[in-house]
Amino acid sequence: MTHLDLPPLRRAAGVVRLPGSKSISNRTLLLAALAEGDTDIHDLLDSDDTRVMLAGLRQLGIGIQHIGADSYRIGGAGGAFPVKEAALFLGNAGTAFRPLTAALALSGGHYRLSGVPRMHERPIGDLVDGLRQIGAVVDYLEHEGYPPLALKPAAVRLSAPIRVRGDVSSQFLTALLMALPLTGERAVIEMTTELISKPYIEITLNLMARFGVNVERQGWERFVIPAGQRYRSPGAIHVEGDASSASYFLAAGAIGGGPVRVEGVGRDSIQGDVAFAAALEAMGARIEMGANWIEASAPTGGRLRAFDLDLNHIPDAAMTLAVAALFADGPCTLRNIASWRVKETDRIAAMATELRKVGATVDEGVDFIRVGPPASLTPGAAIATYDDHRMAMCLSLAALGGVPVRILDPGCVAKTFPDYFERYAEVTAPVIAIDGPSASGKGTVAARVAATLGYHMLDSGALYRLTALAARKAGVAWDDEAGVAALAATLAAEFEGERILLAGEEATEAIRSEEMGVGASKVAALPAVRAALLDRQRAYRRWPGLVADGRDMGSVVFPWAECKVFLTASAPARAERRYKQLIAKGMPANIDLLLQDLRERDARDSARSVAPLQKCAEAELLDTSDLSIEQAVAAVLGWARDRIH
Ligand code: DC
Repeated sequence: MTHLDLPPLRRAAGVVRLPGSKSISNRTLLLAALAEGDTDIHDLLDSDDTRVMLAGLRQLGIGIQHIGADSYRIGGAGGAFPVKEAALFLGNAGTAFRPLTAALALSGGHYRLSGVPRMHERPIGDLVDGLRQIGAVVDYLEHEGYPPLALKPAAVRLSAPIRVRGDVSSQFLTALLMALPLTGERAVIEMTTELISKPYIEITLNLMARFGVNVERQGWERFVIPAGQRYRSPGAIHVEGDASSASYFLAAGAIGGGPVRVEGVGRDSIQGDVAFAAALEAMGARIEMGANWIEASAPTGGRLRAFDLDLNHIPDAAMTLAVAALFADGPCTLRNIASWRVKETDRIAAMATELRKVGATVDEGVDFIRVGPPASLTPGAAIATYDDHRMAMCLSLAALGGVPVRILDPGCVAKTFPDYFERYAEVTAPVIAIDGPSASGKGTVAARVAATLGYHMLDSGALYRLTALAARKAGVAWDDEAGVAALAATLAAEFEGERILLAGEEATEAIRSEEMGVGASKVAALPAVRAALLDRQRAYRRWPGLVADGRDMGSVVFPWAECKVFLTASAPARAERRYKQLIAKGMPANIDLLLQDLRERDARDSARSVAPLQKCAEAELLDTSDLSIEQAVAAVLGWARDRIH
């Protein structure tokens, strides 16, 4: 795709489960490969940068099994890599290139490491100098100080401390720290400059410790790895959500009202980028935090405040602050961010150019950027992304200024967050929630409202009906909570226009029977079934908007929906409508039995312990007993137009 047009966005609220952390994923993969024993890694990030690392490790002879959706079993080599000759292509993945350079330099083989052209412009001299000090043989194949590299076997000596710079990239220190235990000897690293991005070193030390290697850290100047330590598998390890990826959603909540909640990082995180939440708080955003989640909302009754901050410790998440600055009440200064210049692109130059396109006044220097917010954002900017995932994700936030924004080459987000834009839509697309009892006409009204507005449509009742049908087909009883929930979690449902398929088979008519209606209402009363269908329902929220119909759209699934309607009709009116529908289809029907059935179903749907059918306080009540469909549709459209925009 050459570009993605984001619609004007005005509100952000919702929940996002974060993809795994890139920094933790790639470090854990390497440590597991060097360790004794098998390691099961769960919730590994699936992205370009982790695929590069996985492919590299496979080439180096590491056994890797895919044991579940995001789970891998890594057969540790118990030391240096078994394959002694290889040429690795590592794309633009710094988190693979630097640590593999160090580990391979100490692996006693012949290796060549290369990447995309931008990787060959990113400096690596400080790391190579460090490795050469201990006798490693590392040659530059093109330009002095830059990849590609050739590594050869060498006798290493660790008698003297290794002296390295820490002011270009903290990844050089990370690479040395992770590789040196391969020697089994005592190793000392001394920094010759100030160390940048310190929290990333904490991630490294934390993960090394989980694999049984402890490093003595003396301030941020000296690191000692005692002799005789070996990496040992901890058995299983769970990768936290990516705190840098969290920054886009938290900023969206702070700009677009909120609350936006990210799940996967929180107070217990080992990632420094959670400090981003504190920076947003300094801008006046309201932040709440749990062990494994963070939630951000806009300041009460005001704009975000301007800031002047040293952001050396969170260089990646700091980019998000540069875009949040568009919504501040004055110019914002981001200081001590020189490392931006040697990342995926020169991020200071790129950010300045693109922020100007949306109307900001920008000053830049060697190691700072100052962003003056415009009175209103310039609509229709075409944002270049420089093959830099973070440029694309950051600038997508500009659309929250209520202007359309075009993102060029949006696919570059695959480096760390392949489905970023789908997740972003799930917190920003407007939602109209239409709840009500069976046969109230909400399905018909919802479909017409969606068609009029060009919105997507979620018929949540169909998901419960499909679950009941799947259970019937699998011979699972409707009251077997665990059994039905397992089916719901992997329900192979497809909606193709009017047609509904289950596991590829036609189910459109089958799920509409009275029997499946009863079955749906029974399985819908089971909490585990509702939980299993929650994320799937939320995933229907897409641009330009969603109309969702059901029982708990406004109360549970989309509690932040802009427009909520509770659509009802008297039981006799509903029974009569259902009766007419059945007769029209040439099916047998008895109005008294239908009425009795409806009353029983209402009672079950309203009395259940989870997500009972009831009108939420803020929903508009629409009694359609005496209304035509056209009148009901007009009423909902009227409310929608008032509330959205
Ligand atoms: O709207 P419908 O008749 O297709 O719904 C079938 C059953 O599914 C209904 O009796 C209750 C349940 N349901 C639910 O509990 N929550 C929803 N959001 C939608 C339907």
